[in-house]
Amino acid sequence: MSDFIREVGKRRTFAIISHPDAGKTTITEKLLLFGNAIQMAGTVKGRKSGRMATSDWMKMEQERGISITTSVMQFPYREQMVNLLDTPGHEDFSEDTYRTLTAVDSVLMVIDGAKGVEDRTIKLMDVCRLRDTPIFSFINKMDREVRDHIEVMDEIESILKIQCAPITWPIGMGKRFKGVYNLYTDTIHVFTPGQGHRIPDDIRIQGLDSAEARDFLGEMHEELVDEIELVRGASHEFDLEEYQAGRMTPVFFGTALANFGVREMLDDFVRWAPAPIARQTDTRTVEPTDNTFTGFVFKIQANMDPRHRDRIAFLRICSGKYTRNMKMRHARIGKDVKIADAVTFLAGDRSHVEEALSGDIIGLHNHGTIQIGDTFTEGEMMRFTGIPHFAPELFKRVRLKDPLKLKQLQKGLQQLSEEGATQLFMPLNNNDLILGAVGVLQFDVVRQRLKDEYKVDCIYEPVNVFTARWVHCDDARKLEEFRRKCSENLAEDGGGYLTYLATTRVNLSLTEERWPEIEFRATREH
Ligand code: G4P
Repeated sequence: MSDFIREVGKRRTFAIISHPDAGKTTITEKLLLFGNAIQMAGTVKGRKSGRMATSDWMKMEQERGISITTSVMQFPYREQMVNLLDTPGHEDFSEDTYRTLTAVDSVLMVIDGAKGVEDRTIKLMDVCRLRDTPIFSFINKMDREVRDHIEVMDEIESILKIQCAPITWPIGMGKRFKGVYNLYTDTIHVFTPGQGHRIPDDIRIQGLDSAEARDFLGEMHEELVDEIELVRGASHEFDLEEYQAGRMTPVFFGTALANFGVREMLDDFVRWAPAPIARQTDTRTVEPTDNTFTGFVFKIQANMDPRHRDRIAFLRICSGKYTRNMKMRHARIGKDVKIADAVTFLAGDRSHVEEALSGDIIGLHNHGTIQIGDTFTEGEMMRFTGIPHFAPELFKRVRLKDPLKLKQLQKGLQQLSEEGATQLFMPLNNNDLILGAVGVLQFDVVRQRLKDEYKVDCIYEPVNVFTARWVHCDDARKLEEFRRKCSENLAEDGGGYLTYLATTRVNLSLTEERWPEIEFRATREH
């Protein structure tokens, strides 16, 4: 096996999905701690504690405390190289969060053990399901009084439609939390409280039946033996193929805050999570072990360095290698560009990479030519598929303070929507400009950037739109009829695609029923 193939096989590229406050940031810190990527847990936490990284931030991002440096974190763990892609989660939740999930090979789902399955997780799972992404699950906050674990797993199975295979099982909870038991290795991992900021001692007791285990558990022993028997009977046995097909999730328990149970999860994660997988393009399937370089852009981050006003395009490498000064073809515009200074985000620092390969993420400086979904190759003309626009969930009508600046406004909105964080809709029947976004912060970002970069002041007004669906129909006559009869609700998006703007959920389902020949799509390919 060549070194290249071996190195690619070591990559584990993933993202964390969770509802806000389930513990994503905390677990990220602990993962980095295990990867020796940070000296002390807490570095990622700038958002709440007010401790910021030193890099430059867009002013508003600084005010809001949104981290850019943690967009991609690479760290070695055991034999593997882990790439963790950040999925903005709180008020910075956006379409980028969804699209990042198209750039990973697997996902870690963090669930608050006291709350179970929450809204945001349901949405993010829907996105994962588009590609049958394999899911690891970590049920967090065992140091608190949480809900019945079997009930939470039932909820995962019924709401998220995925089978649960518990790998570890918690011993007690809250003040009585004593550790986790691994059902497959028959090992107790002993919890010692107060170990959050350092790597915990790895204290293990082999054998639930051992004298040592009885001694350690005391009166909880019998209870645990019964519980484990029940769990084994009531849950699925772990099956690697089922996991990799996205139909089963291995479940781990612990407390991210106290840094417990995370290592047990990470150890199995690097063993079971898939190495870079093959990707589809419009012409062929790209294997990660192909020698020639290919990749696609899944996210564009604006103004990372205000002095240069540059933007960074995040590119997922799908095959081959990036080396410094290499020539890449920007396939959409058919132009060759020399890339001397791609960036990476190792341990939260922006640093130059000399080499990166399949599964890795690199940042390309973008002066406005790169768009979301763009493919880069070593000369081949092709386009990666499966990096869609997602239907926005929030809408606002954009009004100008100075009506004479309409041209600038249109240009600005168009360009900003090409970056992919917001979408523009122009109704067929009037001259409104409607902005759609997945996360609420995007509206502020757009307003601020219109002001800074296009010198346009705008205000937002509420608009009666519940959701957008891209309209598709192979029958041109039927489509024309639909266009005529439903023009009230139709718009063109920034790319000129016909879109149905539904006023309510009921309006959407009635229209779908009335027009069975028309497809109403929640995503659109770039
Ligand atoms: P998020 O990124 O998913 O939004 O969650 P985050 O890690 O910020 O965690 C949300 C809150 O839950 C934080 O408390 C965090 O300390 C707490 N937390 C995370 N994991 C655990 C756990 O295992 N046990 C317990 N008891 N709490 C946990 P906060 O008070 O909102 O923030 P902070 O003041 O601690 O920063």
